[in-house]
Amino acid sequence: MSPFKFSLETSNSRWDGPGGTAREVNTSNFPISKSIAGVSMRLQPGGLRELHWHGIAAEWAYIIDGHVMTTVVSPDGTVEKNEFGPGDTWFFPRGYGHALQGLGPGECHFLLGFDNGDFSEFGTFSITDWISKTPRRIVERNMQLPESVVAGLPKGEAYIVQGKVPNFGEPFRSPNLEPSQLTHKYRLGAVAPRRFAGGEERIVSSKEFPIQSTLSSARMDLEPGSLREMHWHPNSDEWQYYTKGRSRVGIFGAHGRVETAEFGPGDVCFIPQGFGHWIEQLGSAATQLVILFNNPHYEEISLSQWLASNPAALLAQNFGVTEEVIDKLPKAALGIIK
Ligand SMILES: [Fe+2]
Ligand SMILES: [Fe+2]
Repeated sequence: MSPFKFSLETSNSRWDGPGGTAREVNTSNFPISKSIAGVSMRLQPGGLRELHWHGIAAEWAYIIDGHVMTTVVSPDGTVEKNEFGPGDTWFFPRGYGHALQGLGPGECHFLLGFDNGDFSEFGTFSITDWISKTPRRIVERNMQLPESVVAGLPKGEAYIVQGKVPNFGEPFRSPNLEPSQLTHKYRLGAVAPRRFAGGEERIVSSKEFPIQSTLSSARMDLEPGSLREMHWHPNSDEWQYYTKGRSRVGIFGAHGRVETAEFGPGDVCFIPQGFGHWIEQLGSAATQLVILFNNPHYEEISLSQWLASNPAALLAQNFGVTEEVIDKLPKAALGIIK
């Protein structure tokens, strides 16, 4: 099997500048990850990820640390401006124009996820790239600026620039704008969790966050010594990013193919659709991971639920054991085992 682990924080596919940094993972450096690409981005206070859009992917984000502001425009002309803090997520459908700026205090670190494994953060449609490659007479007429001003605009893609810390209350330039009908912000960290004996999980599908129309997202918190039970997802791949602690993950594909690997902060794990898997928490510090599924509807089948959903005699024959042994098996999904 193709490797299913990638260390994103040490990726050499990276961009570094005074206003921020970005590291990416996609099919060019992690071939198994065909459906989802990711970026770990850091913006300094005032660091501005310039106006841009993405031609081939929608963008999801999860804030790990710090605060950031976004602006986004929809094709129907509606707009939204939001502030994000730790645990918050956003979703910008493919092609929507957006910009990000660090609000401070301190650096803002966030994870970006894209619903296309071939997506590259370094191939986005940036406003300065376009303006600088367009004939000046066109830019002068379109931006309604004199030639002398256009001549002084950036000569290439700015990507991230170090600006001033924004005043979040500053209004949009036009007073005649309508807010988006659907919000682009969802506070994943504030969702009531599914509680299990060994930890908890928050899952956000398009049911809770309608604009997140191509992905589901989740955050899992595993207490020391816990085990996320064996399960699979009938309808989606699973892309994980570890924010805290350590874990061992095992995956299973048909024909007896199994792989295990250990994961810690900054590591990405990819589990193809339908592959069985489990997560064994390691170490004395709790483990936290953020997850994307490439389907807006969340589905799973767990081993314990499956075992509970069969007659005892059938299972006794399947495993070659007595029904007394089968009687000890769990009778409901365990989720995260203590
Ligand atoms: Fe973007
Ligand atoms: Fe899973």
